Amino acid sequence: MQTLVIFGASGDLTSRKLIPALYRLHIKKRLPEPVRIFGFSRTSMSDDDWRGKLRESTAGFLGTAFDGSEWDAFAPSIHYQPGDIGDSQSFTALESRLAEGESGRVNGGVDGQVTNRLYYLSTAPRFYEQVVHQLGAAGMANESKTASRRVVVEKPFGTDLAGARALSASIHKVFEERQIYRIDHYLGKETVNNVLVLRFANTIFEPVWNRNYIDHIQITANEDVLVGRRAAYYETAGVLRDMFQNHLLQILTFLTMEAPSRFEAKALRDEKVKVLQAIRPMTPEEIARDTFRGQYRTYRDEPGVAADSRTATFAAVKLRIDNWRWKDVPIFLRSGKGMSCRTTQILVQFRQPPHSMFECAGGGSGFPLHETSPHETSPHEANRLLIQVQPAEGIRIHFLTKVPDADMRMRMTELNFNFRESYQGEMPEAYERLLLDAMLGDASLFARSDEVEAAWSIIDPIQSAWDRDAHAPAFYETGTWGPATSEEWIAHHGARWFDSCPVV
Ligand code: BG6
Repeated sequence: MQTLVIFGASGDLTSRKLIPALYRLHIKKRLPEPVRIFGFSRTSMSDDDWRGKLRESTAGFLGTAFDGSEWDAFAPSIHYQPGDIGDSQSFTALESRLAEGESGRVNGGVDGQVTNRLYYLSTAPRFYEQVVHQLGAAGMANESKTASRRVVVEKPFGTDLAGARALSASIHKVFEERQIYRIDHYLGKETVNNVLVLRFANTIFEPVWNRNYIDHIQITANEDVLVGRRAAYYETAGVLRDMFQNHLLQILTFLTMEAPSRFEAKALRDEKVKVLQAIRPMTPEEIARDTFRGQYRTYRDEPGVAADSRTATFAAVKLRIDNWRWKDVPIFLRSGKGMSCRTTQILVQFRQPPHSMFECAGGGSGFPLHETSPHETSPHEANRLLIQVQPAEGIRIHFLTKVPDADMRMRMTELNFNFRESYQGEMPEAYERLLLDAMLGDASLFARSDEVEAAWSIIDPIQSAWDRDAHAPAFYETGTWGPATSEEWIAHHGARWFDSCPVV
């Protein structure tokens, strides 16, 4: 028997992501059997009240993909337990309700059955420690041969290195590291996982995946949405904590780590930590030169945002990895809200060939050597690999071809792969994969404490330097690619942003 307890059951994440993901897993018949899902929060509700609310929200969220009869089959696994995180009695009551089903009396099971539990911390982060402490005090973290106890911790895991360490230390009083699943939903995205397949299941990419062939890498996660109702959180987080420390750095690890010997939690996480630790710490001068921040012009008008807020809603950071593979290859990370479109993409920009025999070929012929497509202006294009993480999930390779019947004129052309064209069915939501992995005890796609700490060590100095800087970030209009000066910034670093909205 698998039991999932969601703390913070009345929150947005539960209705928007967790329950729809569980419902989809139910439809795909992937949920462990039998499964029980318990919601825990202060609102007083019966099982049926909660089921009714979730039915409505899930139907709204999934639209035509919602099937009422499937929901009716799924709904009996959902239960609700009202309770207060600050009250130990609430945990005693929860424990006896959970144990009641596990003893076999309710479900007609037999003694000795496996009774695994997954506790999901989906509350406001300030309550994480308290929930864990209560679980410990109520004996709810104790394991046995037939009873695993695991805890999923939602992001953010701390707000800086010291906070992340303190949080880990506090959770470690109750749960061992192997029981802790720090979630970053980007690691559940199919296309992020496909980076590993692209690199390590093919032979043609890995030999050129290094400083000898790669000029630089751009990882962009742009969103057209604004901060809106999330101002209270966003004012204290900003784009660095919200997107860089977790999602962008996680993508970076998959792109740049060495090949693990097997797809298994320890091997994978060891390599990720190594590459994070190889990122060169920035000096204050480097932070001033190698980072860029912006704020969309109407951000200060959002309810809850200070009139003189300096919170960055856009940032670009140039990182360097000090190892043999990546020495001196700039890795540009960029993310912003209020951008022209939603796109998460990885651009691997290859170097020019060391020598071009065509350099003179166009010279006397009257033909320009390269023909560029309308959105490209540089006369000297080199190969690019574009991984479209979302939406329009796919991969594109840019390479030069000879324009027919035009002397030796060349044009940058594309080879396209698109998941939706090559595979049937909807792309699964990241939470489906991650919830299932956590229930099955596979921590490969969850962050270990040293990984999270290494990531904060990269972000902390930048965030502190920005906090000390009295200058306002560069403003930009919503619906653009960020401040125009970010283009000058990257040009100064010898590159050019690859800006293209995905064709969905
Ligand atoms: C969250 C951030 O972690 O990721 C949000 O807090 C952001 O600000 C979201 O919008 C982006 O996730 P996705 O899956 O929509 O790219």
